Amino acid sequence: MSVKPHLKSLKPYPPGKTIEEFKKELSISGKIYKMNSNENPLGPSPKVLNVLRDSLSQINYYPEASYKELKSALAKKWDVLPEQIILGNGSNEIIDFLFKALIDSHEEIIISKPSFLMYEKFAQIYGVKIKTIPLTKKLTHNFNKILKSITKKTKIIFLDHPHNPSGSVLNRESWEEFLEKIPPHVLIVIDEAYGDFIEDPSIPLGIEFLKKGYKVLILRTFSKAFGLAGLRLGYGITFLELSKVLDLVRQPFNINILAYKAGLAVLEDKEYIEKSINLVKEGRKYLTDELKNLGFKVYPSQANFIMVDFGEKVEFLYEQLLKRGFLLRPLKAYGFPKALRISIGLPEENEAFIKNLKDILNVLS
Ligand SMILES: Cc1ncc(COP(=O)(O)O)c(C=O)c1O
Repeated sequence: MSVKPHLKSLKPYPPGKTIEEFKKELSISGKIYKMNSNENPLGPSPKVLNVLRDSLSQINYYPEASYKELKSALAKKWDVLPEQIILGNGSNEIIDFLFKALIDSHEEIIISKPSFLMYEKFAQIYGVKIKTIPLTKKLTHNFNKILKSITKKTKIIFLDHPHNPSGSVLNRESWEEFLEKIPPHVLIVIDEAYGDFIEDPSIPLGIEFLKKGYKVLILRTFSKAFGLAGLRLGYGITFLELSKVLDLVRQPFNINILAYKAGLAVLEDKEYIEKSINLVKEGRKYLTDELKNLGFKVYPSQANFIMVDFGEKVEFLYEQLLKRGFLLRPLKAYGFPKALRISIGLPEENEAFIKNLKDILNVLS
C-alpha cells in the first residue's frame, strides 16, 4: 500500500488541549481556566440540555435526512431561502465540501498568513496549491496584495473575519472595494466563526454582500456564541447554484441527531445568546484595558479572544500562568513568538487571570 505522495508531509492539526489532558500533564488539582480554544465559558444553554435529555432515547434512529427545520430556522434568521443554507459537522466540514466540490489539484486557493489553520490543512489534504499573503502591519487581511495575486487558477479566497488569531476586522468600504474587483471565477469565503462578537457598526457582515449579489459563501458556527463546540455544528450561507452542489457532496446524516436538536433549541434561546455575546464584549474590554495598563500591546479585537504581545517575558509568563491553571494559546506556530491568544472568560475568570498575572509580575520585579 502507498499513500498519495502529497499526503506524506501532512502534519496533524494542533488542537487546544482539553482540561483533562492538562490536569494529567501538570498534576493540577485546582480550577482550570480554559482560555485557549475560544469556546463559550458560560456552559451550554439550559434549554439545550433539556432538549438533549429528551432526545437521548432517540439516538438509535437516524435524524430526519433533509434537516428541513433547522435550515428553515436559519433561513428565517438571515432572511434567505432554506435551500441557501448548507449544514456541516462544524463549519470545518463546509470547508471540506468546498474543496470536494470546487477545486481541482491544478487550481489554487489564496489565504492570509497566518489565518485559521484549517484552510491550509484541507488544501494539503486535497493536494491543492496555496498562495499565502502576509497580513498588513495592523494584522488585517491585505486586500491589495490578495487582489494582485489572483490568477486564472485561483478558485477560492478564504478570509476569516474577524481574523484568527488577531481578532482584526475590515470596514465596509474596504470590503466593497475588494469585492468589486474579484473576477467571476473566484469564490470569496467569509468565515464569520466570530461574527457574533462584532461590536463596531462600521464592520459589515458577509450576508450584506451575498444579498447584493456578490459571489460569496459565509461560514457560521454554533461552536462559539451558541455554546455547542463539542457537538460540532456549523453552516454556510451562499447563492443557490453553489449551495445545491455543496449539498450533493455531503454524506447523508452528516449532522447527528443531538447536534440537530441542540441547534434548533439554542436558536430559540435568545436570552442565552445575548448573554454569551455581552459577556464577551464586556470581558474583552476589561481584559484589553487591564493588559494595556500593565504595559502590554493588545491588538484590537472584535472576536471572543484577544491577542497580546508579552515581549521577551512571554515564555516565562505562559509557564507561570499554566502552573496556576490558566490555559492560553501560544502563537509561535502562527508566526508571533512573543504573543499569546487569550479567550475571553467569565468575569470572575478574567479577574482571576489579571490578578494572577499581576502577582507573577510582582515577583519578577
Ligand atoms: C476562523 C475559524 N473558522 C472556523 C472555525 C471552526 O469552527 P467549527 O467548530 O464550526 O468547525 C474556527 C474554530 O476555532 C475558527 O477559528
